[in-house]
Amino acid sequence: MRGVHCSFVFNCRWYHGAPWPWWYQGMKVDKKTCAYLWVFTAAVICLVSLSWSIRAPGNILRRSGQDGDQPNHGEVHSNVTTEAINFTNYRELLKTAYDQRYEGHINPHDFSLVLDEPLACMEYERGRPRRVFLLVLVATSPANFKRRQAVRETWGSPAALDGRAIVTLFLLGKTVNSYLYRNVLKESAEHHDLLMEDFADRYKNLTLKTMMAMKWASTHCPQASFVMKTDDDMFVSYRNLLDYLAAMSAPDTGFALGRVLEGKAPFRDPKSKYFVSKEAYPGDVYPPWLSGGGFVLSGDMPGRIYSASLDTRFLYLEDVYVGMCLQKLKVTPIMSDRFNNVHIGYSYCMFRYLITSHRFDPEELRAAWKDMLVPRTCWFWT
Ligand SMILES: *[C@@H]1O[C@H](CO)[C@@H](O)[C@H](O)[C@H]1NC(C)=O
Ligand SMILES: *[C@@H]1O[C@H](CO)[C@@H](O)[C@H](O)[C@H]1NC(C)=O
Ligand SMILES: *[C@@H]1O[C@H](CO)[C@@H](O)[C@H](O)[C@H]1NC(C)=O
Repeated sequence: MRGVHCSFVFNCRWYHGAPWPWWYQGMKVDKKTCAYLWVFTAAVICLVSLSWSIRAPGNILRRSGQDGDQPNHGEVHSNVTTEAINFTNYRELLKTAYDQRYEGHINPHDFSLVLDEPLACMEYERGRPRRVFLLVLVATSPANFKRRQAVRETWGSPAALDGRAIVTLFLLGKTVNSYLYRNVLKESAEHHDLLMEDFADRYKNLTLKTMMAMKWASTHCPQASFVMKTDDDMFVSYRNLLDYLAAMSAPDTGFALGRVLEGKAPFRDPKSKYFVSKEAYPGDVYPPWLSGGGFVLSGDMPGRIYSASLDTRFLYLEDVYVGMCLQKLKVTPIMSDRFNNVHIGYSYCMFRYLITSHRFDPEELRAAWKDMLVPRTCWFWT
């Protein structure tokens, strides 16, 4: 019988009597059976992937930290100051925030919040603004469920340190992928920590995300003493940040802290990843800017940066763009080598010192966080 050898991929090629193993020989079928096998396999693959996609949200959103003891780097949910803030001041703060919305700017930020957390800086019981020491806004993308979950379970978990309230929220742009979008909605309903505006979530739109952070902070949490912007692939130590701010007696206005990059010229080669044309940025050198992976502002700065951005030409390099706004505002960013825009591998003693480190994946974050909980002594050679 001239059979068809039905290979693993059912390509139905003619069998030439090659020395196949016995179990493979057994698969020798005629052309018609092979075609049926093809259809059957395709149907099975379809069904399996369909059932997986229906079940997947649960898998993605399953919280691995639900066994009770979430590691906490410092005291958490302890004596947070719940004292409400002075309403007169608050209205004034909000008024300046809303004054930023008038028309006729060269770079208006005309986007609306699709997901909002209007109560994040409020007292839940009374719906009044509460004292917030540090507002942390973490840039992320709709697909990065795992990273957000790792941040929630590790460095983003403290709701307070030294009795000072910390609010950690994520920043997202919109996705057209309805499957992702549905999962994001579920995640938001579960964790209440997502902010999303209706611009497309793309690399070249990061500036919009950072300006969204500035706008949200100044309109929804103007009472925050400090506002930090960071990313979901960072390690951040709130403990070290708070200690550092206290040690340097950080001023509560006109303050911008992080890793300062300066004296850099725009890449004019169109093949470069960071290409910037003469039209987009006419100058030869960028103003000093704070690395976007993590920087800290005094509470007044988000509103001022947002206002300045409305009349500052758009540049897709989000951290340079903030630098341009700072220059306009005549605020000189302060350099600290505790903020790192590169990956510093975890070691206990190093991480007692630094505030940010770049490129941490969820596993590394969890491992580092767990290790940090065991107090040890650091010597100068360690
Ligand atoms: C909060 O403060 C009060 C009084 O200062 C103290 O009695 C209480 O133990 C504190 N609670 C915690 C969880 O630290
Ligand atoms: C609230 O702030 C306003 C303006 O700064 C001040 O006049 C008022 O006395 C303050 N109210 C309280 C209760 O501290
Ligand atoms: C940025 O978002 C806007 C608004 O959704 C969109 O029109 C634009 O194409 C996006 N930019 C990029 C580079 O995708």
